[in-house]
Amino acid sequence: MTAAEEREPLVRLERDGAIALVTIDHPPVNALSHAVRSALASMLQEVQANGGFAAAVIACAGRTFVAGADIREFDQPLRTPHLSEICDAIEASAKPIVVAVHGTALGGGCEIALAAHGRVLAEGAVLGLPEVKLGLIPGAGGTQRLPRLIEAHLALDLITSGRHLPAVRARELGLADDVVSAADLLNKAKALALALRSRGLRRASASPVTVSDRGGFAASAAKAAARARGQMSIAAAVEAIAGTLDASFEDGLRRERELFLQLRGSDQSKALRHLFFAERDAGRVEGLRGVAPRAVSTVGVVGAGTMGAGIAGACLAAKFQVRIVDLDTSALGRGRERARRILERETASGRLPPEEAAALLSTLVATNDMTALSKADFVIEAVFEDYDLKAGLLARLAKIAKPSAVLATNTSYLDVNGLAAACGRPRDVIGLHFFAPPETMKLAELVRARDSAPDAVATGLQLARRLGKIPVVVEVCDGFLGNRIFAMYRREMEYALEDGALPEEIDAAMEAHGFAMGPFAVADLSGLDIAWARRKRLAATRAPGERYVGVADELCEAGRFGRKAGAGWYAYRNGQREPDPFVTALVEKHSASRGIVRRPVSMEEIQRRARAAIVNEAAKVLAEGIAARPSDIDVAFVHGYGYPSWRGGPLYEADRVGLDRLLEDAERLHAANGIGFEPAGLLVELVDEGLGFADWPKLQRP
Ligand code: 3HC
Repeated sequence: MTAAEEREPLVRLERDGAIALVTIDHPPVNALSHAVRSALASMLQEVQANGGFAAAVIACAGRTFVAGADIREFDQPLRTPHLSEICDAIEASAKPIVVAVHGTALGGGCEIALAAHGRVLAEGAVLGLPEVKLGLIPGAGGTQRLPRLIEAHLALDLITSGRHLPAVRARELGLADDVVSAADLLNKAKALALALRSRGLRRASASPVTVSDRGGFAASAAKAAARARGQMSIAAAVEAIAGTLDASFEDGLRRERELFLQLRGSDQSKALRHLFFAERDAGRVEGLRGVAPRAVSTVGVVGAGTMGAGIAGACLAAKFQVRIVDLDTSALGRGRERARRILERETASGRLPPEEAAALLSTLVATNDMTALSKADFVIEAVFEDYDLKAGLLARLAKIAKPSAVLATNTSYLDVNGLAAACGRPRDVIGLHFFAPPETMKLAELVRARDSAPDAVATGLQLARRLGKIPVVVEVCDGFLGNRIFAMYRREMEYALEDGALPEEIDAAMEAHGFAMGPFAVADLSGLDIAWARRKRLAATRAPGERYVGVADELCEAGRFGRKAGAGWYAYRNGQREPDPFVTALVEKHSASRGIVRRPVSMEEIQRRARAAIVNEAAKVLAEGIAARPSDIDVAFVHGYGYPSWRGGPLYEADRVGLDRLLEDAERLHAANGIGFEPAGLLVELVDEGLGFADWPKLQRP
């Protein structure tokens, strides 16, 4: 029991006439620790035993309803009472039990709600079973009760995606009895509990599974399984839910429990739990304790291209006032349309009422006039990645923007120190590197320049979080944390190409490793022209003697700029990528011109080389202080580069693989490639001291 748990009663039982009001009060998110479960179980027994109570309401104090089991306890042995027993007791109660849900009823919290006889939700509340994201499946009846309360294929989709279900959608599906204002929540829940006394109780376990379309269910199951890309929890969730179609509730529950327990001890779940806490740690930034962010209500965006319009749309959806500026009027039109589509998506998911979306869109100011940004509290420039262009623009913005405004540059590589100094307001400047498409990609690299004021950084962090991003704070270097490491990975994969592999073999190997896409498919998606322009710009500064693969340059010279051009590393037919003999011939020609005798490169070799290149450069990024901690690199790679989340990120995985083995691989790469692949001093040090990246804090000497 923690000190806080010893001090406060975690669950209170109060009488309100014939109603027992059971309030869980375990900040910050009312997680179901062992102590909370024990207290809840005994309160529920008291409700049953006390003849003065005719019905009960379960509610929560603080900011949210129960957000699930206590994730920190998953590393400990199991202890009774299990949540599944509590849920069974709630459902079996002869006295009506209603939940009053505000905030997020997630995981075990949602399972309590599903076991109850009635559910009243506050406006803005969400229900969700996100266990798959932790490498688990719901373990207290969620996979069995939800398909009995809503259509089985919808239950399957919610559980295998871990998606939140907004209150309005829950009501449409019949999952919520009522959606009311926060002020009315308790009274409505009490009224429902009393009313249920005479209505007969609906117990999910006694209802048949709702499956009107077995074919549709099978199709959703197949889709979920394909999305899993090696993640066991998704396949297990499909199995548990599919089992409900033909098995009894009790048998289904037994199978759910078995699968839950297997997953609880699995490496994948441990890796995903690491990532959960890593995402939260990424927000802890040295030097910001007690620093108040500046107030932001109006965001200005310069540039209405793909990035600018996507950022503007995301800001609108987060309910900021938005002004977007572009000299090209037709780009502004396209930008407005893109913002409309982003809001439409929010509406379709139930996160934003249609009338509110329309009202937000009507507030969007799209103009050619840069002085419209004089009222913005936060300005993000998202123009073409060109140093001089951005420097000139920031200098103009520095004059136009009000003194308290933060000026953010959305750059993926450029020197933010230089840009900040040149604009004359270095304290107000930060980098904010969004990933395409910015309205959906979770990662935002927040670049802290040499002179960035702490409150400018705090403001950037707050804004990124409000946009639903996971911000990772990084220092300035070419490519920052993500693109710098990714560049070494890409280089190594090009060397593998020259040695004997083909793009489709490399992509297949990395996709088999669990990456959303292999490096060549990613390059085609991003467009080869941008990287080409950058290579040409940097050609003069490339180290003499650096191993350089010119295949991508030749593809560009042939006009093959990737997916948008219908050809790149692949040919594209009907939107599908296909290996292209043209590329094969080009690659073979390059190997021959280097005197390389092409040889088969196995999947395992490709994966090992990729891993060594990533980890070696990551160790350099850490040692140079570009990233604050190893787990920030894990978070960035998972949320910005499609690294398989169930591997926990590259550095978490590296500790599992063994750093001595990785160092050997890194040394092999150095011997083969030379410049740029020198083994990282930090990697050598960790191996010498028998430590892993998890021991990084021990190396932080004062
Ligand atoms: N267990 C333990 N700690 C938790 C927790 C949980 N389930 N959920 C959140 N926390 C902690 C966070 O680590 C954080 O701690 P910190 O301040 O020390 O960093 C603190 O609570 C606040 O969390 P956030 O910073 O994430 O706060 P937000 O307001 O941004 O988000 C939230 C709140 C939406 C509830 C988010 O925390 C969340 O998604 N939590 C996880 C929910 C989840 O996955 N539940 C399922 C658990 S598994 C389960 O229930 C199994 C069951 O089927 C048997």
